[in-house]
Amino acid sequence: MSPHFEFSPVKLVYGGDALGFQAGRTIFVPRVLPGERAEVEEVRRQKGVVHAQPLRILDPSPERIEPVCGYFARCGGCQYQHFSPESQAGAKVEILRETLRRLGKVNWDGNIPAHSGPAWNYRNQAQLKVGASPRGGRALGFYEAESNRLIPIDACPILSPRLNAVLATLQRSPWIDAFSPCRELEVMADERDESVMLTLAGSWNEPDAESLARKFLAELAGINTVAFVENPTVKAFGEPYLAYRVGDFTYRVSPTSFFQSARFLLPKMVTAVAGGESDGVALDLFAGVGLFTLPLAEGFDQVIAVESHPVAASDLAANTGTPKRKNIRAVGATAFDFLRRCAQMEPDLVVMDPPRAGVGVATLKLLLNLRPKRLRYLSCSPPTLARDLGFLLKHGYQLNGLDLFDCFPQTYHIESLARLSRLR
Ligand SMILES: C[S@@+](CC[C@H](N)C(=O)[O-])C[C@H]1O[C@@H](n2cnc3c(N)ncnc32)[C@H](O)[C@@H]1O
Repeated sequence: MSPHFEFSPVKLVYGGDALGFQAGRTIFVPRVLPGERAEVEEVRRQKGVVHAQPLRILDPSPERIEPVCGYFARCGGCQYQHFSPESQAGAKVEILRETLRRLGKVNWDGNIPAHSGPAWNYRNQAQLKVGASPRGGRALGFYEAESNRLIPIDACPILSPRLNAVLATLQRSPWIDAFSPCRELEVMADERDESVMLTLAGSWNEPDAESLARKFLAELAGINTVAFVENPTVKAFGEPYLAYRVGDFTYRVSPTSFFQSARFLLPKMVTAVAGGESDGVALDLFAGVGLFTLPLAEGFDQVIAVESHPVAASDLAANTGTPKRKNIRAVGATAFDFLRRCAQMEPDLVVMDPPRAGVGVATLKLLLNLRPKRLRYLSCSPPTLARDLGFLLKHGYQLNGLDLFDCFPQTYHIESLARLSRLR
């Protein structure tokens, strides 16, 4: 096969690439759509699989659009800006369905409703890298796809307007010059897109950190918290945390605690995960700062929320610890350790929202000992969801529904909610 060849993919696969076959080989190419014909160039061959890059689109799909961002194709953040947002959600539904079938032997032929929000300015947080700029000096940016080469970024169209304003300011002198000990910078805005928390990771000496924080807080509009992280130490100046409101609840989110990033879809997702059920006992494993715990506690007699990250666990305790919330028990532990020590109980509902690694079979085995009646599994990783659902379906549970939340338009990421119930 010559290094340049024509390629027509058959489908999109998880990770953002299009998949096709040529001369008996499997080929993966980014930024080409099914139904298109493209001229592509081989860039790498691994175990007989060819990875290529598109050179020219010869026959474009009607679903192709012009990417809005000048960094697209170089920046590792977005994979789908060439693909109309309405079509992205439909494609993700099919990728989810196929990943579950292929990796978990989970055959779900039912509908998978896709919930979407605005396709731009939807992120309330970003993790920027700090490094040497090709223009000289330091810069803030994202890494190129599959590399750790920094692309300085002046604006990112998936970030909220406030975060873009902060990014544009920080990228300029004198702010950017202050970042030399910093490797990574996280910015997070509240639900009104007004108040911003900055978290800087690196090696700082205390007086420098403090004077830099005071300067940020005094001179940069909207910045109310500046935190320095040098693992495991976190030192915050200004407000000690960001207050984020979703529906009827306000959550304390400290620097380094996990919080959902899709600002527009968040209320709908919370209702889908934590609403519509009541009475009895609910477990919220992987609870974070308590996003689902508080709405669950409105309906259930008792809610036990489990979170392993120490900072998030202390936010969880603070968010759920008001006197009104006597029906919540917050536990700082891994889900595995909590379940291992768990006394006999039969939860009516278990909510699971694990990181990308999924819940895992060892933890699920312990969970099955409790014989929960219903499960809601929110996943950000179809492959690990496939593994875990495959296990649950073999062990007495049925899948009753699947929803897709297109929390991350322009990217390949897929957030989905599986609803299960015990068969006997
Ligand atoms: C995807 S986040 C979800 C958090 C929360 N449900 C939310 O939506 O804001 C996963 C959370 O699980 C926590 N976590 C990771 N591994 C864990 C484990 N083994 N046991 C309990 N919590 C864990 C992380 O610290 C993180 O807060």
